[in-house]
Amino acid sequence: MATLGVNIDHVATLRQARGVAYPDPVEAAQAAQAGGADGITVHLREDRRHIQDDDVARLRATLRVGLNLEMAATDEMVAIALRVRPADVCLVPERRAEITTEGGLDVVGQRRPLADAVARLRDGGIRVSLFVDPDPAQIDAAAAMRAAAVELHTGRYCEPRAAGAITAELGALRGAAEQAHALGMIVNAGHGLRLDNVRPIAVLPHMEALNIGHSIVARAVFVGMTEAVREMRALIVTS
Ligand code: PXP
Repeated sequence: MATLGVNIDHVATLRQARGVAYPDPVEAAQAAQAGGADGITVHLREDRRHIQDDDVARLRATLRVGLNLEMAATDEMVAIALRVRPADVCLVPERRAEITTEGGLDVVGQRRPLADAVARLRDGGIRVSLFVDPDPAQIDAAAAMRAAAVELHTGRYCEPRAAGAITAELGALRGAAEQAHALGMIVNAGHGLRLDNVRPIAVLPHMEALNIGHSIVARAVFVGMTEAVREMRALIVTS
C-alpha cells in the first residue's frame, strides 16, 4: 500500500507573494498531519522562491512524521541537509527559469557529481532518493551509485501530449518500478498527481510514497488542508 507525502511548497508561495509571515508552512504541515499525511516534503530551491531555510529548520524541529527535503545536488544544499538531517533527501534537477521541476535528473550524464552528493548524504545517515524519468538507463545509474530510492517522475503521465500516451506512460512507470525494486531500491513517485489521476499510480507494483503538492494545496483553498489531505490519502490507501 502506498503512502502520501504532502508537498507544502505552495503554502510558502502564497506567503512569499506578499512578503509577509502567513500562511505558515509549519501550520500547513500540522494540518496535513491531522489529515493523515505520512510525510511532509519541501523543496528548498537555490533562489528561495517559496520555502526558506528557517521553514526547513522549524519543520525538522516540530514534525511528527518524516521530513523529505527536495534539493539540487549542490555543495550549499548538501551542507544544509547534513546540518538539518531530514529523514530523506530527494535530489532534483533545478533550473532558475522553470516554473516547476521539468524533468528527471540526468543520472547517466551527471554521474560523478551526483554520486558524490549521494555518498556524502548517505554517510550523514540520510536516505537519498533520485528524481528520475521512468528510463531504464537512469534507474540503472541510480542503483549503481547506491541511491536508497528513486522517485519516478509522473509528469508525462499527468500531462499526456497525445492520444494513447497515458497507457504508454503507465507501462513505462510500471517497468521502472519493477526494475528499481529488483535493483533493491525503494520506489516513490510524484509530480502532477491529482484526485482524478492518482489511482493508477497508487496501484503500481512496489509503490511506497506518492509525493503530491500543487493539487492538494489548490484543493485546500476550498476544503481546508486537513480535508484535502484526507481525501487524497483515502484514494491512495484504498486503491
Ligand atoms: N516530486 C518532486 C521531485 C517534485 O519536484 C515535485 C514538485 O515540487 C513534486 C513531487 C510534487 O509535484 P506537484 O506539486 O505537481 O504535486
